[in-house]
Amino acid sequence: MENRVISPGGALRGTLKTPGDKSISHRSAILSALAKPSSPVILSNYSTGNDCQKTLQCLRALGVKIYTRKKTSPSTVKITPPGLQNLKEPKNILNCGNSGTTMRLLCGVLSSLPFYSVLTGDQSLRERPMDRVTDPLKKMGAEIFGRQGGKFPPLSITGGNLSAIEHQSNVPSAQVKSAILLAGLSAEGETWVSENSPSRDHTERMLFHFGVEILNFSPGVKPRGHLRVGVRGGSIPEARSMEIPGDISSAAFFMAGALILENSELTIQGVGLNSTRTGFLEVIKKMGAQYDILSFQEEGEPRGDIRIKYQPLQPFSVGGSMVPTLIDEIPIMAVLATQAHGVSTIKDAQELRIKESDRLKAISENLKAMGANIEEKHDGLIIEGPTRLRGTVLNSFGDHRIAMAMAIASLVAEGDSLLKGAACASISFPGFYEKLEELRPGRR
Ligand code: S3P
Repeated sequence: MENRVISPGGALRGTLKTPGDKSISHRSAILSALAKPSSPVILSNYSTGNDCQKTLQCLRALGVKIYTRKKTSPSTVKITPPGLQNLKEPKNILNCGNSGTTMRLLCGVLSSLPFYSVLTGDQSLRERPMDRVTDPLKKMGAEIFGRQGGKFPPLSITGGNLSAIEHQSNVPSAQVKSAILLAGLSAEGETWVSENSPSRDHTERMLFHFGVEILNFSPGVKPRGHLRVGVRGGSIPEARSMEIPGDISSAAFFMAGALILENSELTIQGVGLNSTRTGFLEVIKKMGAQYDILSFQEEGEPRGDIRIKYQPLQPFSVGGSMVPTLIDEIPIMAVLATQAHGVSTIKDAQELRIKESDRLKAISENLKAMGANIEEKHDGLIIEGPTRLRGTVLNSFGDHRIAMAMAIASLVAEGDSLLKGAACASISFPGFYEKLEELRPGRR
């Protein structure tokens, strides 16, 4: 529960690389672990955040050989694909820590395997609904038990002998879609998942890259409206080495800082630019932000360098199918809204209430304490700017994205802020505060 004092002022100037994308890192390790047995593959720029390390720990407990040089090169991970059928019954409970992606994706993998496993997590994760994945996986034939009829962890799973399903997801969730597709790889028949608003497509892209045919999917072709993708049972991925792009969700905090601190100019290198994740870039463009994409690589997971500088901002309005493309950026967008000239609105974002914290409540309580003009709605926020924020006592609620969003808000406040529980930023971004200081040499 480390607290931190954050002083305002200065400008953000220089160049940075964010840790490897969290979503892609989880998938690279999990898909390598269930791929056809082969010689080791190397995952470069694997996220050093606690969440992705939990995925590695769980996979090790399932018998996967994983090698990292923690001291010299912590972001290089060497994995020997054992093959799904060679994963072993874990001798102890699998602890997913704070990571919803670890738990939900592993539910999909473990549902395919004819042994007993138990998944748990920290206090926050044990309060997050799992029935969105366990219900369809039970329909496929897995035996899953959990608290409150299978809704909350700890979860126990005994899998194997799955049958394909056609699942219509009532929430656009990449974790749900991914869990079902992963289970579908070993189910009898074709497994399909539909979403009304498409969620991030990293699982589909990586499976495709690993040689699996994904039905109704072409990488890089953005689905319009409704999404329906599938896999054929018996498809076996072949793992390949890869370089994971930087995390756009982590970059968003620094980009926002640069937009609201005068004289800022930042270059963010090698950041992921998958169009199912770049809603934040679209919104800030509409707000008047000027940024350049200096290099763009389309292959596999798209990536590039972004240069951005300070700019007075217009308000924004987001909702509907835009929300899944910027779901993790909403806390920092709320901070931007406090500095924009007019009324910004965020709606259709009720999913934020069941993230690592209730993010709508967490943002609104913190920004209110700083003097912002913010109204909390059941599914979003209304924020009127610009407001000169006041430094005060802020609470991370143990949520990494709330901690980082409030750290950025503190930079434009009058007076210092005390951020309680600041250390949780390391869930996705170890060294976040140090980087922030390093890029603010001209600070008052
Ligand atoms: C993630 C999907 C999103 C996102 C989370 C990571 C993923 O969650 O908020 O940080 O890696 O699949 P949902 O699937 O619950 O929308």
